[in-house]
Amino acid sequence: MTEFERSVAVVTGGASGIGRSLALLLAQHGARVAVADLDLKQAEAVAETIGPAARAFRCDVTEREQLVELSRTVVAEWGAINYVFANAGVAIGGSILTTAADEFDWLFDVNVRGVFSTMQTFVPLLLDTASTGARAHFIVTGSENSLGVPLTAATSVYTATKHAVLALADTLRRDLKESGVVVSILCPGVVDTRIFDARRSRQDRYGGRSDMPPDFLERASKAMAQGQKPDVTAKLCLDAVVRGHFMIITDPKIRDFATQRHREVESALDRVDAAIAGGKG
Ligand SMILES: NC(=O)c1ccc[n+]([C@@H]2O[C@H](COP(=O)([O-])OP(=O)(O)OC[C@H]3O[C@@H](n4cnc5c(N)ncnc54)[C@H](O)[C@@H]3O)[C@@H](O)[C@H]2O)c1
Repeated sequence: MTEFERSVAVVTGGASGIGRSLALLLAQHGARVAVADLDLKQAEAVAETIGPAARAFRCDVTEREQLVELSRTVVAEWGAINYVFANAGVAIGGSILTTAADEFDWLFDVNVRGVFSTMQTFVPLLLDTASTGARAHFIVTGSENSLGVPLTAATSVYTATKHAVLALADTLRRDLKESGVVVSILCPGVVDTRIFDARRSRQDRYGGRSDMPPDFLERASKAMAQGQKPDVTAKLCLDAVVRGHFMIITDPKIRDFATQRHREVESALDRVDAAIAGGKG
């Protein structure tokens, strides 16, 4: 992947899981990487693993001024930005009726407003990059839950946030058509990360950090271990980024899940065709 050589990439949520693997792989392919995360210590650990091609930043994507500060520092140090991965995200379980209002705010502020603010902060810089003829690409981390609704795990509000970021990415793609800035959405299936322990870094205004019970952590980490390894997800993602694909699916197992809504829409269209044709007869 020579495309990433001497490029500059920003990865939010870069301290752990998918973001960490993206940062490591980008650097392996010659990119300079800004590893941005709420968790500075872990971001520094990732940057240290990478070496001089990386820098760690504390950046909470719900705080727009921190995103602006990040963008200014990266441009000042490394010049133009080529790739922005709006990857930071949090998840919790729960149905609509059992999700507390402050958890709803937390999920939407990080997963949706965070992506929106990352777009508003970095897309103007990517437009500058594209105007010089260099690569400029904005990649949102969505989920399989951007494409459908899980039958079992009750992650209702999380699913709603991931549907919302699909719409943000898709409308941004429409708006940036012909601008030279490419937009993608990464929709992984289950990936073996620490997302199940997202409250470990929850900000005070949403209820603060809380430790999940050890038996929950054990069960969840066993379940996640069945998922795809994040370095595999990152590799498939970067391959698709190089090809400029909008929709990046990294887990073939989600085919039925991801096509379910499509089939439902087709059936509803068939029914309305039949109803209207029946009315005419
Ligand atoms: N793991 C999965 O099964 C899976 C599947 C589909 C999509 N995703 C998505 O992948 C993305 C990365 O999650 P992951 O699975 O690697 O989880 P993870 O918990 O391992 O990593 C998420 C990172 O985001 C950081 N973060 C949380 N809130 C933040 C904030 N406000 N500002 C900046 N950083 C913040 C965390 O500190 C953490 O380092 C998320 O958007 C998630 O929704 C994960």
